[in-house]
Amino acid sequence: MLKGCPAIDDRLALGRRILDLADDLAHWSESRGELTCTFFSDAHRAVARQLRDWFAAAGLASEIDPIGNVVGRRPGTGRGARTVILGSHYDTVRNAGRYDGRLGILCALVVLESLRGVRLPFAIELIGFSEEEGVRFATPFLGSRAVVGTLDAPILNVRDRGGQRLGDVLAAVGTDVSQLQSVARRPEEVIAYLEVHIEQGPVLLNDNIPVGIVTAIAGNVRYELVLEGEAGHAGTVPMNARRDALLAAAEIALFVERRARAEPGLVGTVGRFDVPAGAINVIPKRCELSVDVRAQDDDTVARALADILAQAEAVASRRGVRLSTRELLRVKAVPCAPRLQDLLATSLRAANLPVKRLASGAGHDAMIFDGFTEVGMLFVRCGNGGVSHSPLETVTAEDAGIAAQVLRDTLLRMAN
Ligand code: GLV
Ligand code: MN
Ligand code: MN
Repeated sequence: MLKGCPAIDDRLALGRRILDLADDLAHWSESRGELTCTFFSDAHRAVARQLRDWFAAAGLASEIDPIGNVVGRRPGTGRGARTVILGSHYDTVRNAGRYDGRLGILCALVVLESLRGVRLPFAIELIGFSEEEGVRFATPFLGSRAVVGTLDAPILNVRDRGGQRLGDVLAAVGTDVSQLQSVARRPEEVIAYLEVHIEQGPVLLNDNIPVGIVTAIAGNVRYELVLEGEAGHAGTVPMNARRDALLAAAEIALFVERRARAEPGLVGTVGRFDVPAGAINVIPKRCELSVDVRAQDDDTVARALADILAQAEAVASRRGVRLSTRELLRVKAVPCAPRLQDLLATSLRAANLPVKRLASGAGHDAMIFDGFTEVGMLFVRCGNGGVSHSPLETVTAEDAGIAAQVLRDTLLRMAN
């Protein structure tokens, strides 16, 4: 028995339990005084072991797979029962909140605990994905991509900022990387993928609604841009004789903002902006920046990206700086399955809750299941103005409990 798990009809106690479990997980961090848990750090591995033990205590057959996903499985009735996958991620950004990703895992965990002994015609797998944020290897969704079978061998060669190869990091903890393909599920054996996630924005908060049904997840393209100019003495090189990599990058970053502001529904972000080994009295030779572009439709993303890359070329050539670009991620906008949206809506109505539908601007593991199986998502109201990717992220126990109840009711409806 998962210790202290309350009855499913005690919404507040259930929600408190979920938040307590999230507090417990937040004790493991790779940085002092803040929560950071990136792929295969010691903190990350400790969280995986804790989740595996909690999954086992809830009666699930649990294991940590070769890419670090924590998997808990309960069988369905009947031979060859297909599987509903519930999941979200347990890695975090740097200086994170404690609910992004983990809330979905923990909601599903208390639901499965409450379904112990309840026979369902389908199997259920709860997966805590090891990597969604892309912090360590600038390559997100490592866990979910392994599950749908799109994590191909070349990915093992990506390196973190310390120069460590992904393949070596896995091998160092005893993973046989040739086993990575074994993580992949077969689509014909899966019925649906369902994910509960904190909204990470203010829509539900402003509408005073506890949970909402996700209609679609924004498409996202990410690039790394590197500008190489010429180092020089800050006091001696005349202003018109400089090839300053940082100033070229700054112009590009401002263009990303200008281009995104010019089109409703488009967002563009430069989240990383580095002058490696920069010094106060040296003209920057090298500047690296990231570009993240998102919108609800892929065409808008593609047009914006083309404009940004063209502008980057133009700026680099005008300033005599060399530009190189590398695509890090391209995920299409993903519609959530109408059938699952309707099931969630029926559960909300049955609980006398308002039915609110909204799109997701943030990326989620759910995106990776597009084309593999039907995808459904339930958002939970985010407090504190809707802030996320920040330690100020909050969720209430009441809302977490509601999300668990709605998820449970939806699973029971899927069984009928
Ligand atoms: C994931 O958190 C994202 O960047 O949307
Ligand atoms: Mn997340
Ligand atoms: Mn996140």
